[in-house]
Amino acid sequence: MSASVLESLRQSVPGLLLKTAPADLEHYGRDWTRRWSPAPLAIALPASVEQVQALVRWANGSGTALVPSGGRTGLSGGAVAANGELVVSLERMNRMLGFDAVDRTLTVEAGAVLQAVQDAARGHGLEYPVDFGSRGSCTIGGNIATNAGGIRVIRHGNTRDWIAGLKLVTGAGELLELGRGLVKDASGYDLRQLAIGSEGTLGIVVEATLRLTGPPPPAQTLLLAVPTFQVLMDVFALFRSRLELQAFEFLTGHGLRHVLAHGVSNPFDQVHPWYVLAEYDAADEAAEAAGLAVFEEAMERGWVLDGVLANSREQAAQLWRLREGITEATARWRPYKNDVSVRVAAMPAFLAEAQQLLGEAYPDFEVVWFGHIGDGNLHINVLQPDGSDDEAFLRQCGHVTELLAGLLRRHGGSISAEHGVGLLKKPYLGSTRSEAEVALMRQIRRAFDPNGIMNPGKIFD
Ligand code: FAD
Ligand code: MLT
Ligand code: ZN
Repeated sequence: MSASVLESLRQSVPGLLLKTAPADLEHYGRDWTRRWSPAPLAIALPASVEQVQALVRWANGSGTALVPSGGRTGLSGGAVAANGELVVSLERMNRMLGFDAVDRTLTVEAGAVLQAVQDAARGHGLEYPVDFGSRGSCTIGGNIATNAGGIRVIRHGNTRDWIAGLKLVTGAGELLELGRGLVKDASGYDLRQLAIGSEGTLGIVVEATLRLTGPPPPAQTLLLAVPTFQVLMDVFALFRSRLELQAFEFLTGHGLRHVLAHGVSNPFDQVHPWYVLAEYDAADEAAEAAGLAVFEEAMERGWVLDGVLANSREQAAQLWRLREGITEATARWRPYKNDVSVRVAAMPAFLAEAQQLLGEAYPDFEVVWFGHIGDGNLHINVLQPDGSDDEAFLRQCGHVTELLAGLLRRHGGSISAEHGVGLLKKPYLGSTRSEAEVALMRQIRRAFDPNGIMNPGKIFD
């Protein structure tokens, strides 16, 4: 059966590269969650927009479900193919297509890796400022499909703020050219923004025109150990009022211990309960002095248990490893990831309640907190104890997510800040988005994908 389906695909899309070896099905059928068993029909690796269109038209005719696939660094199961879907990997469509110095835009194919895009922008003396730990393997198409956030959101916003245009092959096989690099366009609905964050459910992003900005001013990087989360928020308020922040991240001693066990060295002589990693503009002596003054004020107020100010790029990179290394250092416990957000101002009240709830709900599990606190985004990672039963663990995590979702609703937050809904958060979508909103999302999905072939089962059924 699958042999005849694939033969008809080969005939409909001449020259299409297909992979069917078991190791490939395994490799391309999963993402970083590693919670679902991969079982795709095959992997298609188109090399052109025309091939993508022909493939989508064929899928409509044959009733084959498609899973768009980038770097599979996703953390919510969005790129998982566990039900005989055809994975459409954009990895061969990874070229930089053009730079426009007047518009300050870079046009790339959707399979371009984030780091390659950042490097290309720097090659033109500019910056593509969206950035995060998986930069070496995630793709622009995946970043757009998840509206990825990361470590510079406090300064530069999310992916959606940097997409001047994109080309989308809809679920019906039409090629839409959206945004077209225009700075201003008031002619009707902005379909580009609908495609951003759609997790492969409306179509396949094949190309993107990215806005670039000037290089960031020199920065100072500071790691502070603080005694409580409340103090951490006080430090944030002080820093935000006096400095131009480029990043403001937090982690806990739990997370740090895992990174240290992975070979990164501790800048302090002990492990503290909470840490802030802040980066702020230090373009001239006055800005540097302002940074030092704020640091000293925090010390005088008794907020700081320990602190280190990086005195070189290498030391700054070392401090960043403490924060960015947590995902990899905890990966072997396949953490159940809650990726929640509330307004920054609501964070202390939300966190106090969340801490109590999670302490009661997970007395036997290790919970590792970290995240983009300056954006109101917390990552709450529940590590699966060695030797425990998958189903029982997930059942308990699901139950606790429901309680957390109730809390988020009361605090006006979201069950997914930046990782997307995918499969993991599908049961909880309705807790922070209204019925009317979800009903409209369904209609929009049908309009883009009338036969329901695009990433079925993701976000909502
Ligand atoms: P994939 O995982 O391949 O796919 C993600 C979703 O996008 C799926 O639904 C897929 O179907 C869809 N998709 C992929 N390509 C296309 C396309 N061309 N057209 C349409 N749909 C498509 N995320 C953050 O937001 N902030 C972070 O700070 C962050 N840090 C991370 C750090 C690490 C170490 C890791 C492993 C992950 C991190 N992530 C972070 C999560 C992840 O890297 C992002 O979600 C990223 O945007 C996914 O890109 P990808 O190419 O790997 O997409
Ligand atoms: C991060 O902020 O490091 C990422 O979102 C990855 C994660 O949550 O594990
Ligand atoms: Zn994150």
